[in-house]
Amino acid sequence: MGDPRPPDRRPPDPRPPDRLPARPHLLVTGGAGFIGSAYVRDVLARDDGIRITVLDKLTYAGNEANLGAIAADPHQAARFRFVRGDIADAAVVGPLVADADAVVNFAAESHVDRSILDPEAFLVTGVIGVHVLLEAIRAEASRAAAGERAASPRYLQVSTDEVYGSVEAGHSKEGDRLDPRSPYSAAKAAGELLVQSYHVTHGTDTVVTRGSNTYGPFHHPEKLIPLFVTNALDDLPLPLYGDGMQHRDWLYVSDHAGAIDHVLHHGLPGETYNVPGDAELPNREVVTRLLEHLGKPWSLVRRVEDRPGHDRRYAMDGSKLAALGWRNRIAFDEGLASTVEWFRANEAWWRAIKSGDWTAYYERQYGARLAGSTEAG
Ligand code: NAD
Ligand code: TYD
Repeated sequence: MGDPRPPDRRPPDPRPPDRLPARPHLLVTGGAGFIGSAYVRDVLARDDGIRITVLDKLTYAGNEANLGAIAADPHQAARFRFVRGDIADAAVVGPLVADADAVVNFAAESHVDRSILDPEAFLVTGVIGVHVLLEAIRAEASRAAAGERAASPRYLQVSTDEVYGSVEAGHSKEGDRLDPRSPYSAAKAAGELLVQSYHVTHGTDTVVTRGSNTYGPFHHPEKLIPLFVTNALDDLPLPLYGDGMQHRDWLYVSDHAGAIDHVLHHGLPGETYNVPGDAELPNREVVTRLLEHLGKPWSLVRRVEDRPGHDRRYAMDGSKLAALGWRNRIAFDEGLASTVEWFRANEAWWRAIKSGDWTAYYERQYGARLAGSTEAG
């Protein structure tokens, strides 16, 4: 005797359910920076009714020009609002969270070298800022419980693989111990732990993403790839730290933004998701490839004094995010080629950043290093 029930021929639904309401209003903090602005541009370009308010302090790293394409498109501009302000300012944050279905927090000081020079802003934004956002969400959860709004806002914290510290072998999984080793990664780890505590203590609907080294258009020229591309375009020296054999796993910016959006919609409450790239490479190899794209010689590369506490390697296991249904789309060589082309075509954007305060930063970070540099071999 066979089973009398007809076989279920429906394919399994690979996507967990959407945890946001239809046509949500998102508060995107830090949305004028590199990854945040890519997220805002990509989501609004989908033209699916989502509205976005960006709250950004416009630090040296924030740039309204990164969102210029939105203002230029009336369909997108109608669903977009920009507020200049600090996530650590409860008076600004409260009303914005009250009006949002979800908060996606990109806001942070993001450069390891600057965290070694001046760590305080990292802590104010990364810990107090996150605390202020979470408290505003807690207030909205109370209003939801009192029937004053439909649901409490969801909170997504954009974090980093750097919270795992230097990973000599293997691939970090989400449950691994946090072992931050720079003031930047310590502030990011502290922010994450606060998020976790609100989920456990208050039942806040939170998700965390840990992205790997991201690259692409609009990347601030303080970071490895855009610094080396823009210096090479001007035939300036490329300051490679130490032996250049530190490994990073490169993730194209639209893939990072897409993964964050996927987790925002589908991630399970209280969970953390690694967002790895597709290219674990030593820095020397990254520099070799970008010089090839630019047609510039290796002789521009200078070996300079290493970064103190320099993490040797980051590498993450991405199976949890893959099981949630996300796949990256852009391979490293394709992404690097289009990034180099973007910097070639957008000189005005990066020259404006590499002026003013930049000169003092560059001298402080690289002046003595370059003076004492040697051939990179
Ligand atoms: P970014 O430095 O380009 O942008 C940060 C943005 O946050 C800027 O627009 C800045 O003005 C804003 N900001 C800073 N402090 C603020 C405050 N107190 N209030 C409001 N806005 C504030 O950084 P990014 O590279 O786009 O990184 C975005 C997020 O992704 C960060 O949280 C970072 O830790 C994380 N992340 C970055 C990478 C990477 O490779 N760039 C990798 C993994 C995770
Ligand atoms: P960076 O872009 O600062 O990202 P992160 O420190 O968050 O990984 O640096 C990427 C790698 O490149 C890292 O190993 C440090 C190295 N690096 C240099 O060798 N020279 C530089 O001038 C910079 C900015 C980075």
